[in-house]
Amino acid sequence: GKVAVLMGGRSAEREVSLRSGRAVLQALLSAGVDAHGIDVGRDVLEVLARGAYDRAFIILHGRGGEDGVIQGALELLDMPYTGTGVAGSAVGMNKLMSKRLWRGADLPTPDYRVLESGFDPVAVVEALGLPLIVKPALEGSSIGMSRVNRVEDLSAAFEVAAACGGPVFAERWITGREFTAAILDGEPLPLIRLETPRSFYDYEAKYAAEDTRYHCPCGLDPEAEAAVQALALAAFEGVSGRGWGRVDLMMDAGGKAWVIEVNTVPGMTDHSLVPMAARAAGLDFQALVMKILATSLT
Ligand code: DAL
Ligand code: MG
Repeated sequence: GKVAVLMGGRSAEREVSLRSGRAVLQALLSAGVDAHGIDVGRDVLEVLARGAYDRAFIILHGRGGEDGVIQGALELLDMPYTGTGVAGSAVGMNKLMSKRLWRGADLPTPDYRVLESGFDPVAVVEALGLPLIVKPALEGSSIGMSRVNRVEDLSAAFEVAAACGGPVFAERWITGREFTAAILDGEPLPLIRLETPRSFYDYEAKYAAEDTRYHCPCGLDPEAEAAVQALALAAFEGVSGRGWGRVDLMMDAGGKAWVIEVNTVPGMTDHSLVPMAARAAGLDFQALVMKILATSLT
């Protein structure tokens, strides 16, 4: 059938989504799928209704695309779509809500404090220690995030995150190794360990820097890797993730793994992690895209 590849949109991750979307569209076309790229704007409902599409491949990142909004619109149109449904998308895009659900399910996620204007930086630092990381709850690709090393820098970090809109929180910094677990069709793919010489894995490190290092195999022994994969899958299912996604984790010096966040429409650019993990599992980019497309039928 005819596939609408939904990309772009109006979120802060628009450029990333266009890169992901072009790669996905190209792969679908090479596989002989009748696929059409749609840069999602205010007229998206009309465009979808007029185009007589059979299903949608959602490759929108961020608000309006990864947060249940477009998923709800597609439900109204009775159009099958890839990946997670309305509720799971809304929760997954919201780092605070995700953390609350994980805590409720006894899944380890670093301690945090919600920051509202007028907050007391000293109390936050007393609770969480330094360094810590300040995050907007509703962004992706590390946009609006700052690592804070000194209490006097906390207010400025809050302002940067607050400018993104939505809630802001400070999170305890986990010193150790950073991992990501791609999930495809209910199964975790091999873990990737990330290493950046920057102060954290920020937007530059994700999409531009040539000095980010990716390790796959990740260097853990098989039982330790399986345990982290199982935690990632529980975290994904804990927010009602479906089809495919990516869970980011940290492992502290004692070997304990912590869930950081889930991405229900993870990046699919040439720098992205899900395609890298899929390759390690023997799936090339086209096979990966076709497998994700198949999730829209279930
Ligand atoms: N939010 C970006 C696209 C990612 O998680 O890959
Ligand atoms: Mg994210």
